[in-house]
Amino acid sequence: MSETGKKGASRRAVLGAGLAAGGAVAAGIARAQSADPLITDVQDWASSFGDAVDAAPYGTPIHFESHVVRRNVEWLTESPVSSINFTPIHALEGTITPQGCAFERHHSGAIELSKQDYRLMITGLVEQPLVFTYEDLTRFPRSITTAFCECAANGGMEWGGAQLEGCQFTQGMIHNMEYTGVPLRLLLEEAGVKPEGKWVYAEGADASSNGRSMPLEKAMDDVLVAFYANGEALRKEHGYPVRLVVPGFEGNMWVKWLRRIGVYDQAVESREETSKYTDLMPDGRARKWTWVMDAKSVITSPSPQAPIRHGKGPLVVTGLAWSGHGKITRVDVSLDGGVTWQEARLTGDVKSKALTRFHLDIDWDGSELFLQSRAVDETGYVQPTKNQLRDIRGLNNVYHNNGIQTWWVRADGEVENVEIA
Ligand code: MTE
Ligand code: CO
Repeated sequence: MSETGKKGASRRAVLGAGLAAGGAVAAGIARAQSADPLITDVQDWASSFGDAVDAAPYGTPIHFESHVVRRNVEWLTESPVSSINFTPIHALEGTITPQGCAFERHHSGAIELSKQDYRLMITGLVEQPLVFTYEDLTRFPRSITTAFCECAANGGMEWGGAQLEGCQFTQGMIHNMEYTGVPLRLLLEEAGVKPEGKWVYAEGADASSNGRSMPLEKAMDDVLVAFYANGEALRKEHGYPVRLVVPGFEGNMWVKWLRRIGVYDQAVESREETSKYTDLMPDGRARKWTWVMDAKSVITSPSPQAPIRHGKGPLVVTGLAWSGHGKITRVDVSLDGGVTWQEARLTGDVKSKALTRFHLDIDWDGSELFLQSRAVDETGYVQPTKNQLRDIRGLNNVYHNNGIQTWWVRADGEVENVEIA
């Protein structure tokens, strides 16, 4: 495998030998036939009836999976109504995030807004200001988009060094859903954007309103006024009945409980946006309008919350990669902290501005690993190391940490969040 890392030979000595990887690993997984009561005896579940069909009109995950839930970090914010929790990405597979465990970020709590009470206004530099009811929206031609929504603060706690044990907390401010809705372009065309209109300001119905400005070109491109996610109505916490889907852009632009679209000749500065969603640079200047999420990836298993329990031999290494600039074209995985890399399989469909699943099947010899993944997107952008990011952006910054994550897999299979210099 090609070696693109530039680390010295001393690291190798520390890491030890025997990181056999790649190739076919089909043999040696299943046990030889034995007198296993689970095979030889009649089980309870085969001796009586199961639940009737109407036991749960709307199903929830079986209780064996009750650990697969959103979690928060209590010390992170002062109040749970202006807070964030995290998707259990260490325990999910594929690419679609079920709504029930998709992270939530509210500035003033999740509100309850019925379809009957729902109104969407289009105001500002338009020929005809309009108000839509929910039913009005359902009469426009629809489109379907799968997109990731990543909070700009994802990974923000890791700028100073490895801090939180698990990708749920370090990279879990992300979800990926299939949305159905009306292209915002169609609603803007209905109202008729005046030639002076250059910016679109979107606002929610909650107390925070979460007002955000985006260039008109983006609004006319792939932005969706969405009412379904993963085939069903949006959940309350994700903006029921209508939210904005802004593919590739940071999560705070994805206005929930969408109530107003204003067209203006310049960006409307909401107070919060100027104070919060900027990237403070080492020289005291701030990067602004950094909406597009750069390419990033993380190994979801093994990881601190998903240690290796089965011992050495065949091991599936898997993770997620994404880019706000388009499709993921390649993910490399390193078992030795970035000294050597091998290309992972991109499994399933690779969609633009959506999560991509990758797998690498290895034969683990039981020695420690320093697992890393590195995403490349269709623009040729290569996910940087955390130190490369720090060299440019310094340590004052909270947002847009897309640096390479390192997991230290110990010989006993336990995994820790670490950084290698
Ligand atoms: N929209 C409204 N109206 N109010 C909010 O507090 N939070 C924003 C955005 N849209 C927010 C909002 C932020 S910062 C993020 S990261 C995403 O919603 C999170 O979406 P989710 O809660 O569906 O995960
Ligand atoms: Co956010």
